[in-house]
Amino acid sequence: MTMTQQAEMAMRQPSKFWDRHAKGYAKRPVSDQAGYERKLKVTQQYLSPEMNVLEFGCGTGTTALIHAPFVNHIHATDLSEGMLAIAREKAVKGSIDNVTFERASVEGFSADDASFDVVMTHSLLHLLEDKDAAVAKTHRLLKPGGLFVSSTVCIGDAMPWLRPVLPIGRFLGLLPLVRFLRAEPLARDIEAAGFRIEHEWQPGSRKALFLVARKI
Ligand SMILES: C[S@@+](CC[C@H](N)C(=O)[O-])C[C@H]1O[C@@H](n2cnc3c(N)ncnc32)[C@H](O)[C@@H]1O
Repeated sequence: MTMTQQAEMAMRQPSKFWDRHAKGYAKRPVSDQAGYERKLKVTQQYLSPEMNVLEFGCGTGTTALIHAPFVNHIHATDLSEGMLAIAREKAVKGSIDNVTFERASVEGFSADDASFDVVMTHSLLHLLEDKDAAVAKTHRLLKPGGLFVSSTVCIGDAMPWLRPVLPIGRFLGLLPLVRFLRAEPLARDIEAAGFRIEHEWQPGSRKALFLVARKI
């Protein structure tokens, strides 16, 4: 297989990219620990013991496993089996039995409308072909008044110089698809999809947008 064919395949199969990087991702420390803890704390102020939560793109399960004691159940999904294998191992080690893991893409996941109290996406929306479709699906899956908790990398604000580099990195199979999102338009798109933003925060670096939004 030529390098071009390999790159084309990597582009068509994002799960392969994340499978390849799962072990490295699991070992890498959180880049902004204080910011991460602040987001966890804010989220937990909205959680309660009867809630059923869905997470898209759960990765190695860190956030789901931290929130698990605060809710009834978390259904954590990701398209990468490599990521999920690590997540399942961590759940067993931590004796956490109210988180289930399922291999599913955002695009392919299906459940009845209004099934969940909370839907979470962390470091995911900027990786999707169609983030608006994901936000619309989130809205549909939430109960009336349900919560969308999302943290999204917004390199369009903080690192505009990256724009020409990303397609090259993707072509070489070194990077996944990364959208050039900006915080302000992203927040407006989420509101336009039928949410009221109740908490909005950009960490010091302004490379991300964290928000808690309620389905209206
Ligand atoms: C940057 S990692 C974030 C993982 C985790 N949420 C966290 O905050 O550490 C992105 C994750 O999204 C998953 N992912 C990428 N595209 C996806 C899609 N279309 N559907 C579901 N998961 C996806 C990847 O497999 C990867 O685990």
